[in-house]
Amino acid sequence: MFFDRIFDINDKKERVYKRYLNGEWIDGNDEGQTLAIKSPIDGSLVGRIPAMSREEVDEAIASTKDSLQAWAEMPIYERAEIFYAAADLFEKHLDEMAEVLVQEVAKDLASARSEIERTADFLRYTADVGKSMAGEAISGDNFPGGTRNKISYVTRVPLGTVLAISPFNYPVNLAMSKIAPALIGGNTVILKPATQGAISSLHLVEILNRAGLPTGVLNTVTGRGSEIGDYVVTHKGINFINFTGSTEVGRHISKISEMVPLLLELGGKDAAVVLPDADLDFAANNIVSGAFSYSGQRCTAVKRILVQEEVADALAEKLKARVEKLNVGDPWKNAAVVPLIDDKSADFVQGLVDDALNKGAELLTGNKREKNLFYPTLLDHVTKDMEIAWEEPFGPVLPIIRIKSVEEAIEIANASEYGLQSSVFTNNINQAFYIANHLEVGTVQINNKTERGPDHFPFLGVKASGMGTQGVKYSIEAMTRPKAMVVNIQKID
Ligand code: NAP
Ligand code: G3H
Repeated sequence: MFFDRIFDINDKKERVYKRYLNGEWIDGNDEGQTLAIKSPIDGSLVGRIPAMSREEVDEAIASTKDSLQAWAEMPIYERAEIFYAAADLFEKHLDEMAEVLVQEVAKDLASARSEIERTADFLRYTADVGKSMAGEAISGDNFPGGTRNKISYVTRVPLGTVLAISPFNYPVNLAMSKIAPALIGGNTVILKPATQGAISSLHLVEILNRAGLPTGVLNTVTGRGSEIGDYVVTHKGINFINFTGSTEVGRHISKISEMVPLLLELGGKDAAVVLPDADLDFAANNIVSGAFSYSGQRCTAVKRILVQEEVADALAEKLKARVEKLNVGDPWKNAAVVPLIDDKSADFVQGLVDDALNKGAELLTGNKREKNLFYPTLLDHVTKDMEIAWEEPFGPVLPIIRIKSVEEAIEIANASEYGLQSSVFTNNINQAFYIANHLEVGTVQINNKTERGPDHFPFLGVKASGMGTQGVKYSIEAMTRPKAMVVNIQKID
């Protein structure tokens, strides 16, 4: 089997995954400390991953340093060939990869397959962009007092070792969206995947390994962020941190990392603004899919509706009808609403719903729970004093906030600490652009649900939603720096 070398089977017949160092899969630390990864679907053991020691982290980072120069000097064309080979392998092993994702993070099978296909596309596109990256030559006489005898020849060079920290909800795609741009830019990479999601991420690493990635260019660090995270983040060998995850952890990382450049993609509270002239069926379809797919465990999920009072009843009715038709429960049967990643997450969602109901919100549907499976929940008449108006639930609950005017929509949208994306549903293009201009977010989707892709678009959050910009070209730029060589032409006598 293709992935056999990434784990051993212990005497209890459990899969014990290894760490990837210098192009080899090796056993975890001498003390054999592991973390049990259980499926959110039924609590069954998916496998064990190494809880790595500090010494092992040192070893992983040192190995990336040893490999840096050779990798940075390898022609981009050759680096790109490895990416094309890896993309083909993702497609060849789509079924196995998707099955691991379903088991480990309870993503529905269709979305799991699409995450793998998207990753293959991402690799090919990154290789193409890498190959077409060109430097520039700037003449000195463009600036006052300059001279044509001075030319700056500018190329982009790698930063060194990039620490890629990925979240649980896209363990393959959001890991690769850091790894591939970092590598094509000539950096080496330490991957610290989310603990729940690490097994899927280790499969990704094996694909890059088998595609021919040179040894030491990518190494893994596994273990709980709360235990090993600070050590890796503050390690002197790390030259760039590319983090996707919660605002809480992102803030913490930005406090403890000193003089190390960061790219942070964090939480969101994306609003869908619905104006009276919008096509309400179209808006309702988009909002329900945007809010509830993968149980709302997406940074870009629609997390609140700001609808003008004139059409609020009609929209609420349409939303309720669609939410009640959602397929709930089994990720293997492509349910949109699947068990949440753990019980704690379901408790958090329950707390937000209880708070809203205690303060007078109207329950249109849902508020039913079986362990970590939270049924899709729609709340109407949500007001600003309720936590659900501001908190990111990362679960299948959608609040409707009724507004009186466009100005009130803008005010409430911008009052959030977050600033990832927003949607505006209207047939009036002037209104759409007026609102879009005034929203404090990275991206405004006009007549569409909020979403990250396509992956070559810039993707960024402002305020507590992040720092820096992702997207193939933007990510490569973030993880490289300009290097200028100035030619000073001497006058010939
Ligand atoms: P999380 O709890 O913040 O974890 C993210 C990653 O950080 C995991 O790999 C985690 O490892 C690691 N980590 C935790 N503490 C750390 C520390 N002290 N130092 C270094 N790393 C540490 O987030 P999550 O629950 O996986 O993901 C959900 C959140 O991510 C949501 O808020 C969502 O909005 C956000 N998100 C944002 C985007 C975006 O692009 N804006 C995309 C996806 C998700 P462990 O798993 O071992 O704790
Ligand atoms: O969870 C955050 C992801 O970046 C969202 O990506 O909009 O493609 O689901 P997506």
